[in-house]
Amino acid sequence: MSVHFIGAGPGAPDLLTLRGRDLIASCPVCLYAGSLVPEAILSHCPEGAEIVNTAPLDLDAIIDRMAAAHAGGKDVARLHSGDLSVWSAMGEQIRRLRALGIPYTVTPGVPSFAAAAATLGAELTLPGVAQSVVLTRTPGRASSMPERETLANFAATGATLAIHLSIQNVEAVVADLRPAYGGDCPVCIVYRASWPDERIFRATLDTLAEALPPEIARTALILVGPALAAEGFAESCLYSTDYDRRYRPQTAESPWSEWRHGDD
Ligand SMILES: C[S@@+](CC[C@H](N)C(=O)[O-])C[C@H]1O[C@@H](n2cnc3c(N)ncnc32)[C@H](O)[C@@H]1O
Repeated sequence: MSVHFIGAGPGAPDLLTLRGRDLIASCPVCLYAGSLVPEAILSHCPEGAEIVNTAPLDLDAIIDRMAAAHAGGKDVARLHSGDLSVWSAMGEQIRRLRALGIPYTVTPGVPSFAAAAATLGAELTLPGVAQSVVLTRTPGRASSMPERETLANFAATGATLAIHLSIQNVEAVVADLRPAYGGDCPVCIVYRASWPDERIFRATLDTLAEALPPEIARTALILVGPALAAEGFAESCLYSTDYDRRYRPQTAESPWSEWRHGDD
């Protein structure tokens, strides 16, 4: 018996991995984080499965459910939105499972920042403009931020920022970012990326507050950085005609020629 943690993706039910779908279909128990996991994904549960929305439960109650399934020899599908590596609360659950000797597996999902970038048709890392993406958030009612993880510190790098869990803090976000990025720095807000009611707002740090209607108060990502509106960026070497590389050696003398014809 195992608890299978499965990233359920950003919202669209078909943005689920095949492995995730098959695991859900094989588990007689499904615990899902109901605030963001789309209910349509639950249609993959087998008939008669015990399906529990964990949104109203505390950690003890969730682990009790897992321990009961373990005692009964039943596999559990544990669904969280997006991917499990960020803001999923998986860490505290697997720590408890390890202490109880309950086995688990982890299956990744499509994270919301990737879904938002896809909605925008944007590459967040452009040659010569930005080569890093920072997944971050601002402090919330239940979560403080480590001292050095400030938006101002991240902004000083010029990277593309994907700011989660912060749509209610837009004014503070702008105030923290404007000194480093400048007021004309592009910002894109993607509300409920990949859901049927998805919306996009494009602005600059200077115009963001007025571009955002008050009803956009949760489940949105704030993407900030010069890469979001860059047009004059360089082309990457990857596909450049004269760039000598492993998959496209330019001459017989290329160090890659040997590799290409070797036994690798
Ligand atoms: C608790 S975190 C979950 C993050 C998730 N594990 C992931 O991989 O994206 C919830 C935050 O992620 C962002 N988010 C999640 N789903 C989203 C979506 N479909 N569109 C835009 N933002 C989303 C929002 O910033 C929201 O406040």
